[in-house]
Order: sequence, then C-alpha cells, then structure tokens
Amino acid sequence: MTTITPPTADQAAVVPSRRLSVAPMMDWTDRHCRVFHRHISKHTWLYTEMVTTGALVYGDVERHLRFNEEEHPVALQLGGSDPADLATGARLGEKWGYDEINLNCGCPSERVQKGAFGACLMAEPQLVADCVKAMRDAVSIDVTVKHRIGIDDVQSYDFVRDFVGKVAEAGCTTFIVHARNAILKGLSPKENREIPPLKYEYAYQLKRDFPDFEIIINGGIKTEAEIDEHLKHLDGVMLGREAYHNPFMMANFDQRYYGDSGVPKTREQVLEAMIPYIQAQLAQYGALGLKLNSITRHMLGIMTGLPGARAFRQTLSDSKKLATGDAHLLLEAAARLRITA
Ligand SMILES: Cc1cc2nc3c(=O)[nH]c(=O)nc-3n(C[C@H](O)[C@H](O)[C@H](O)COP(=O)(O)O)c2cc1C
Repeated sequence: MTTITPPTADQAAVVPSRRLSVAPMMDWTDRHCRVFHRHISKHTWLYTEMVTTGALVYGDVERHLRFNEEEHPVALQLGGSDPADLATGARLGEKWGYDEINLNCGCPSERVQKGAFGACLMAEPQLVADCVKAMRDAVSIDVTVKHRIGIDDVQSYDFVRDFVGKVAEAGCTTFIVHARNAILKGLSPKENREIPPLKYEYAYQLKRDFPDFEIIINGGIKTEAEIDEHLKHLDGVMLGREAYHNPFMMANFDQRYYGDSGVPKTREQVLEAMIPYIQAQLAQYGALGLKLNSITRHMLGIMTGLPGARAFRQTLSDSKKLATGDAHLLLEAAARLRITA
C-alpha cells in the first residue's frame, strides 16, 4: 500500500505547472523511473511512456496505467489517431488519476493502415483536432499535444503555425514543441532525435503568434543556462535524454524554477528513499517478474559528473549482486564511489 505524505508548507505553496518537465520516453520513463525522478524534484512535471490506444482498448489496462501516488503531477501520453479510441484512453487516464492527457504527434513512426500515431498526424491537422475534441469532451483534465515543427522536407514555419492554429480550434492550448522535423522514411527513431536540425526560433515564433497559449520547448536542452534562456521566451522546458542520463541535474529545479524554499535531497538521500519503494515493489510484483534491476537501471546516472561514477555504475550493473534482489545494493554502490573518489 502506498502511504501519502502530506505536502510540506513549501510544497503546498508551489503552484503545479509544466514549467519544467521530463519527456515521455518509451522503455525509460516507466513508473519506477518517475518515482526516482520525483525524489530528486518534487515539482517537475512527469510524463509516462507513450501508451497506444490499442494497448488500452484491447490490452491489460492496469499494467499500462497503474502508477504511484507520489508521482503527481504526472501526465499520460497516448498514441493513436482514432478519436473514439483516444476518448476511451483519455477517460481511463482520468479515472486512474492522471493530471493531463498528452497526444503524441511527434514520434517518427511511418503511417500504417490502422493505428497510425505520432508525427505523421501532423499532415492531418483536422484529424488531430477531431482527436483533441473527442478527448476534451471525455475528460476534464488538460489535453495537450506534443509535436514536431515539420515532417520530412517541410521547412516553412507556416506548417507548424497552421497545425497549432487548427488543433487550437478544438480547444487545446498547451503545445509541447520538439523543435526539429520528423523524417518519416529513412531515419531511425534515434537518428530522428539527432539529425534534423533544431530550430528553437520556430517555437519562439509560435509563442509570439499565440501569446495566450502555453508553449513548451523540447529538444537537445542540457543545462540550466539553456533552460533559463528558453524560459525568457516560452512557458516551459521539457528535458528528455539529459534528465534520464544525468537526473541529479534536476535537484535544483524546485528552488530555481518553482520557488520552493525546501532543501533538495542529496544523492544519498535519494538512494535511501528509493530502498523502501524498491522493497515494496519487489514484494508486490516480484512473483510477476519484477527484478531489482528493473528499477535500479534508471538510477545508473545519478552520480554523473562525480569522480567514481563509473564504480557506482559497475556495482549497480553487477548481475550477481543484482540477482540477490537486495535494494541495499544502492548504498553499497554509493560507498564504492566514496572509496574510489
Ligand atoms: C528512449 C526514448 C524514447 C522516447 N519515447 C518517446 C515517446 O514515447 N513519446 C514521445 O512523444 N517522445 C518520445 N521520445 C522523444 C522525447 O520525448 C524527446 O522529444 C526527445 O528525446 C528530444 O528531447 P531531448 O533532446 O531532451 O532528449 C523518446 C526519446 C527517447 C530517447
């Protein structure tokens, strides 16, 4: 059973917002990763991995949607293009307690006959508007859209401006802009996150053209200096790979971006806080195949930048030690760091 800790005075004073967020990332931002991130930053908005409507309409809803109370604020990202199925998915998301439903219009998957999702939807703004309308009619939580600035060889800013304008007609006012094109044929998803050039100016222009909308930027952002610069122009910054590989960079976020005067946890305190969580998860889901490594794999980057980070990662990747299932391995790994430092 999850115990809900009442918010401290510092926390309670903070207005929840998407000023900073961790991107939806398949296979990475699962519920264990999100709990870990939450121990580093209380306020950074978190996103699930993409869940397709097919998985919710035909699959195991609980497996896809269960999450831990302490993850709030947390958004469910849906992938799909059938308005009725997306409405069903959104309704389920709201019922399970998510704070936002986000539609994936940024993933560079090729269009398939049925079940199209991702960036190919940018070619069909009216369909996206219909999807958004169906979801907004179904739920009272925010419905947001994450998208690219173009697809394939579209270079003109007008394309993304018209996309946002059309989707906004369905009532969506929050747009998360991964500021590069998606190339639908010929590039792998990984290459699609690296090769098409970043054009932050397009996101800035969207904010100028739609000043009342919440425009959040994403793509290649790594440092607080970069975040600060983007926040001069935009409402929020979403971090993907950097937040995953160097999660402790988020330790200052509560103070710096949310005005929380509380003291952030140290790395060791974060590790210690994860131990009872891991123990409880293994007790509950161990028989279903959950392993210590299923949770600790997300934590390998917490020492990034410190001398001895490698020794920490090595200890936490030792298959014999992991097989014991003892979560105190986290502290053993941290102690190695001190010894080698
Ligand atoms: C492993 C991985 C999985 C991803 N899965 C998703 C996803 O499920 N939905 C989505 O909208 N974007 C997904 N993305 C893209 C990220 O959300 C983000 O837009 C992209 O990584 C650019 O941000 P970054 O440069 O800060 O990493 C994924 C990225 C990575 C690295």
